[in-house]
Amino acid sequence: MKSKAKNEMKLVIPSNSANESFARTAVAAFMSQLDPTIEEMTDVKTAVSEAVTNCIVHAYRDTIGTIWIEAKIYEDGRFFISVKDRGCGIPDVAKAREPLFTTGGSERAGLGFAVMESFTDRLRVRSAVGRGTTVTMEKRVAQRYRHDG
Ligand SMILES: Nc1ncnc2c1ncn2[C@@H]1O[C@H](COP(=O)(O)OP(=O)(O)OP(=O)(O)O)[C@@H](O)[C@H]1O
Ligand SMILES: [Mg+2]
Repeated sequence: MKSKAKNEMKLVIPSNSANESFARTAVAAFMSQLDPTIEEMTDVKTAVSEAVTNCIVHAYRDTIGTIWIEAKIYEDGRFFISVKDRGCGIPDVAKAREPLFTTGGSERAGLGFAVMESFTDRLRVRSAVGRGTTVTMEKRVAQRYRHDG
């Protein structure tokens, strides 16, 4: 069912906390080709920020590791973002996705996945303990008149 992406990008960065804002801004800049509304763009930035923060604070808790980010634009306005780490992994994904569940103690609210879910149209989380985690999100950007290059 999946046709070929109209455009795509890949970003590979270390899990420095400084790269959280870089990643969200880079994804938003790429997404701007779809001529999104401010709200659609803010939703995606917020979701990417949560996913990347999870790599930084959970996947690579006491170390710096690599984060792979991919974004794809489809002809019909669908926008896919994946955020992948090779960190510690999640033992129980269903439980981790529940609002307020956290292993981060009092510093964390346990709302990251809930935010990703509510600010995008689809959230998929694949994880294996000791291998890492891939979060894939889909945002459908309403079709408006676009200048196509
Ligand atoms: N990339 C990841 N690698 C390993 N564990 C993760 C990853 N992402 C999430 N988790 C686990 O899932 C839990 C829930 O994540 P979620 O983002 O919903 O909340 P949080 O990060 O704990 O708090 P908040 O996002 O509100 O600061 C985390 O506490 C952590 O145990
Ligand atoms: Mg989080």
